[in-house]
Amino acid sequence: MDSLLIKGGVPLHGEVTISGAKNAVLPIMAATLLTSGKCVIRRVPDLSDVRFMAQILKSLGAEVKVDGDTVTVRAAKLNPIGDYDLIRKMRGSICILGPLLGRQRHAKVSLPGGCVIGTRPIDLHLKGMRDLGTKITIESGYIDAKAKRLIGADIFLGGRAGPTVLGTANVMMAAVLAEGVTTIESAACEPEVVDLAFFLSKMGAKIVGAGSPTITITGVKDLAGVEHEVIPDRIEAATFAIAAAATNGEITIHGARPDHMHAVLDKLKDAGVKIERKGLALIVKRGSRLKPIDVTTLPYSGFPTDVQAQMMVLMALTPGLGIITERIFESRFMHVSELARLGADVSIEGPSAIVKGGHPLSGAPVMASDLRASAALVIAGMAAKGTTQVSRIYHLDRGYEKIDQKLASLGARIQRVDQE
Ligand code: EPU
Repeated sequence: MDSLLIKGGVPLHGEVTISGAKNAVLPIMAATLLTSGKCVIRRVPDLSDVRFMAQILKSLGAEVKVDGDTVTVRAAKLNPIGDYDLIRKMRGSICILGPLLGRQRHAKVSLPGGCVIGTRPIDLHLKGMRDLGTKITIESGYIDAKAKRLIGADIFLGGRAGPTVLGTANVMMAAVLAEGVTTIESAACEPEVVDLAFFLSKMGAKIVGAGSPTITITGVKDLAGVEHEVIPDRIEAATFAIAAAATNGEITIHGARPDHMHAVLDKLKDAGVKIERKGLALIVKRGSRLKPIDVTTLPYSGFPTDVQAQMMVLMALTPGLGIITERIFESRFMHVSELARLGADVSIEGPSAIVKGGHPLSGAPVMASDLRASAALVIAGMAAKGTTQVSRIYHLDRGYEKIDQKLASLGARIQRVDQE
């Protein structure tokens, strides 16, 4: 199993280009199941989650070709039953439910499990499908969803933590081929939902309001193949920006969408990080003094939960008291105990983490628990004195394209090693 060996204390310098967004490309790949036409998706990041989704599409009968960062899918004929074990392994695969239902009025998909960041229920996805007229039974680990007709409806998708990103995507994908008008209230406003809506609209779907809490979809009879370029990954861009600040470096980030990153860029500025726009690029460097901040994760356009762990590292390096409140996933603090091995002083009080910053970090062997926790450990390792070994980096490979190579090109002393 691979791990990363990091010799810390080197400021990052240079230029990096952001890849396509994982959380946009996964539902977009699922959406290709809605048509028998050819779909060409560009700027697809080379990630294990993407390869996994390609396998799932193939297991459903679709033809999938990968050529560099272009993925071509043609789902001429489909079987309704997904491979149980394949689907179970990746949470994001739940978003095949909506397209399968939309296209063939039947889907049998394994229930995705929980994961270390929380229980991750799918009640809202299922509620949305039921509201559209689907009969759902859960049996032997499968969700069996059948509809004689899918009929447009008013659907409220707000949950205890606010809207659901993949739930909104799923219902939208079923509703585009339903009869009549569907209105999703308390829809997720994330840029990834907007990118999916854009993809579906190019296919011929009628969608109004994506990016706002109310999305209105007028069903159409069928959809056609399209070409599409995925939006850049705002979480990857934020991760690199924090890495530059944490290592006291200065980097230029190309290909990001700062308009998708307001909450993160604003908090970084509050923390004393200098951020400059130069044309389409972002220049990020640590200012003369870091300042403690408070962060609360919220649905878009609030501060993203997917950047919480990385921001904790910067706060741990900042003298003073900072507070992070996690409002999206209740258990997303698994990185705290691993960061403690490097010397970070963080305590958990209910949904909040109290960060007593300013203690010097020193390298240690640590273990990644989830994707963003892994990114935080890599940043901490680069900011720490000495050597850090981050094991279980398959989590990192799920969502960051060639992160070790990109960081090495910025001067990080980082090496992938095969660990027994
Ligand atoms: N929720 C429910 N019921 C549901 C669905 C969600 O109660 O049916 C709750 C969740 O438990 C959570 C909140 O609603 O408390 C928000 O969850 P959401 O459904 O929005 O999460 P998701 O769609 O499963 C996506 C991303 C996550 C990201 C979240 C929040 C993908 C593939 N995943 O998950 O990305 O953290 O939105 O922004 O798009 C990551 O990339 O590391 C990652 C975990």
